[in-house]
Amino acid sequence: FEVDVDPSDSEKGVYPYYMLKEIDEQPNVMRKLSKKYLDENGTPVIDEKLLDVMKNSDRIYIVGAGTSYHAGLVGKKQLETLTGIPTEVHVASEFAYEKPIFSKKPFFLFLSQSGETADSRQVLVNVNKDHYPSLTITNVANSTLSRESDFTLLLDAGPEISVASTKAYTAQIALEAILAKALGEHLGDQRAQDFDLKAQLSLVAQGMQTIVDEKDKIDEISQDYFVNATQAFYIGRGIDYTVSLEAALKLKEISYVHSEGFASGELKHGTIALIEDGTPVIGIITQGFTAGLTRSNLMETAARGAKTLTIVRKSLAQDDDTFVIPDVDELLTPLLSVIPAQLLAYYTSLNKGLNVDLPRNLAKSVTVE
Ligand code: AGP
Repeated sequence: FEVDVDPSDSEKGVYPYYMLKEIDEQPNVMRKLSKKYLDENGTPVIDEKLLDVMKNSDRIYIVGAGTSYHAGLVGKKQLETLTGIPTEVHVASEFAYEKPIFSKKPFFLFLSQSGETADSRQVLVNVNKDHYPSLTITNVANSTLSRESDFTLLLDAGPEISVASTKAYTAQIALEAILAKALGEHLGDQRAQDFDLKAQLSLVAQGMQTIVDEKDKIDEISQDYFVNATQAFYIGRGIDYTVSLEAALKLKEISYVHSEGFASGELKHGTIALIEDGTPVIGIITQGFTAGLTRSNLMETAARGAKTLTIVRKSLAQDDDTFVIPDVDELLTPLLSVIPAQLLAYYTSLNKGLNVDLPRNLAKSVTVE
């Protein structure tokens, strides 16, 4: 079955599309997750049994599809930084039959908004056959992935109706950070103890609000550079590269502008040949140690005619930057750098007169392999 909904449903209230409502809900989703999973001292409230099982694993495998896979790429960074446990991230459809498991005590983390994605469910069937321990992070209680894994953590983000996933992506990243802090503390890791996640998530919620309040500027940029674009690139390094993948998926799946998320240092090894006059190239720059490199990669594309734009963390910003996002911990910057990209995709689809919530050929939950 495909979980498509009638977008004429009255729950949209004043919103023209669910996607915009769900983008606007993100600050509150952050606050709800913080309230649910962090006590008043900021200590994570996570099942000790889950932490014990994860503590005894020697490698974490994160499995997801589409946007959930992209959220897993951020989770890898958070888990490895705060716990030191090697973590791999796999596209579910690739992992289901390859099963590259080189560890004696693997732990599986499934990310899925719907909890019904067939590719991911197939992996869990195999994982259960091998009696490996698993956790599902999902937005749907009692979903198949939730029921069939050993542990579940719910996003409680409220129903996500629009085909393009937005609040589930940021909720997954926030919950992965909470889990990483909890596991790191369980392992006695000082970095995890020092990570004031409660304060950071409050800053994130405020930061999201300031960005979603800039809708008119983003609508204008969408009309100037994206509505008539035939292609677009998001580029970045490290955690910013993972956001570039998500940013590109948003744009292509609802506006049909062919977009690629690309490792900014990799462009010169071939793909830069695609840059033409006016091609929009957006650099995502939130990590101090790679900011200068990505800026020079952007200039290389501008020298070939690209229209370059930037999404930059405040402390790294320069006068001519396009979107400046507030400073938050480097493990959480995707929660803010993705927001302008979500809105750019929304306005480009809207300005092209497309059905933002129900893009062609797509379903909200892909229950076929
Ligand atoms: C995201 O915008 C897409 N709609 C799609 O990639 C989605 O993330 C993917 O199908 C995974 O869905 P899930 O999170 O429900 O497993």
